[in-house]
Amino acid sequence: MIEWFKRLFGIGTNSTNSYKKMVNLILFGPPGSGKGTQAAKLVDKYGFLHISTGDLFRYEMGNDTPLGLEAKSFIEKGELVPDSITIGMLKNKVQANPDVKGYIFDGFPRTIDQSKALDQLMESLDQKIDKLIALSVKDEEIISRILERGKTSGRADDNDESIIRNRINVYNENTRQVYDYYDKKGVSSSVDGLGTIDEIFTRLTDVIDQV
Ligand code: C5P
Ligand code: MG
Repeated sequence: MIEWFKRLFGIGTNSTNSYKKMVNLILFGPPGSGKGTQAAKLVDKYGFLHISTGDLFRYEMGNDTPLGLEAKSFIEKGELVPDSITIGMLKNKVQANPDVKGYIFDGFPRTIDQSKALDQLMESLDQKIDKLIALSVKDEEIISRILERGKTSGRADDNDESIIRNRINVYNENTRQVYDYYDKKGVSSSVDGLGTIDEIFTRLTDVIDQV
């Protein structure tokens, strides 16, 4: 416990020693499973940096940047943005924020190639993914949650049931296997994503506190 505490808060590390023990998490699960909500609470508790690739794309789209315009054509159909674009954007964000207690990756990786790129990036920083935690939620619950969120999120991809269904199909076709990829490395866990926000948060912290 004391070792864990020291590692989490970087006690015992110093600037002459470039190795820092961070805790790096992937918060995994289908769209609408509560990743963003839970990530915000995890940031409050542990001080990690939350990196949501969906939020990064929405920021770029909001500013009409070339990257945003390119991403928009995929996002508005519920398709995945090509790996090369997404991986480049993610790398920039990580490399611009080296001095953190850990990263929470939300919405990334969504393909096996993104997973491999993330592992390489972590290795280049002398880091690794410590845990992938999946929020498990059934499709019909997801659709009603996203439609509800769409009333206030201002997201076009939250407001159309056929786009939402496509996002779920893309998850099942391309993303689900990321769980198995990290399971083979012994770091995947799954928690029940149904319940109150606080109940789900406790399930997550129980897993994280054992890392
Ligand atoms: O993660 P989030 O659900 O907010 O992502 C919204 C959309 O952004 C996805 O439906 C997809 O079109 C795009 N996206 C992507 N690749 C990622 C993350 C998001 O293509 N790794
Ligand atoms: Mg999200």
